[in-house]
Amino acid sequence: MKKKLVISTGAGMSAESGISTFRDAGGLWEQYPVMDVASADGFARNPELVHKFYNARRHDLLKAEPNAGHRGLVDLEKDYDVYIITQNVDDLHERAGSKNVLHLHGELMKVRAVDDESKVYQLKPEALDTTPETVIDGHRVRPHIVFFQEAAPNIEPAIELVQQADVFVVIGTSLNVYPAAGLLHYVRPGVPVYYIDPNPAMVPAGVHVLKMGAGEGVERLARELKTTL
Ligand code: OAD
Repeated sequence: MKKKLVISTGAGMSAESGISTFRDAGGLWEQYPVMDVASADGFARNPELVHKFYNARRHDLLKAEPNAGHRGLVDLEKDYDVYIITQNVDDLHERAGSKNVLHLHGELMKVRAVDDESKVYQLKPEALDTTPETVIDGHRVRPHIVFFQEAAPNIEPAIELVQQADVFVVIGTSLNVYPAAGLLHYVRPGVPVYYIDPNPAMVPAGVHVLKMGAGEGVERLARELKTTL
């Protein structure tokens, strides 16, 4: 029986692919007021601006490729049952080939009907730009993103995964945004926890901190797991 590795990733996971993080120096929230472009109130006030912001993110994503860290997590599937819970809205885990990816904050390359959240549509690379007037399948659409002030519907399955983990790994997140940051508290007692981040946030005693970027960190993690599991 393979051990279950549950991996929680944040913006730092994709930094080496050239995608901006949010809170690092020069990060996205330094360039754009977060409550204007990524909150429910902001969307109600100025939907045009919010569509424009996510259109730009989609074009950035189209130019990006998965990095060594994403690929390293795919390699771990040979030896472990790997489940990824990501705060990222990019599709780089999927494009690298990871099988089990749960998105906590939505997906950039999808939109959903404004009047029916169960209707979700994948955008085509040649038609990435949306506006408040865009109509798909008879519905006006909005980014398939969990805005601030909205609930994260996938947090329940994420908690269940963390409760089943034999090893829990956190990669590239400042642990500022809840409920994602709280996942750490659902790990069963005695389960090893690793945290890969070149500028790690405060974490409970006992967490193995690998103070390095995602690519190097995932490689180190794979070696450590081989000797400890
Ligand atoms: P942050 O921008 O808050 O944190 C990024 C983390 O990545 C920091 O801890 C950095 O030290 C780390 N980092 C930078 N370069 C790295 C590298 N090469 N390898 C590994 N780590 C690196 O991003 P998140 O914590 O993911 O939500 O932010 C959480 C949420 O806040 C996002 O999902 C987004 C944002 O508002 C929504 O928009 C809904």
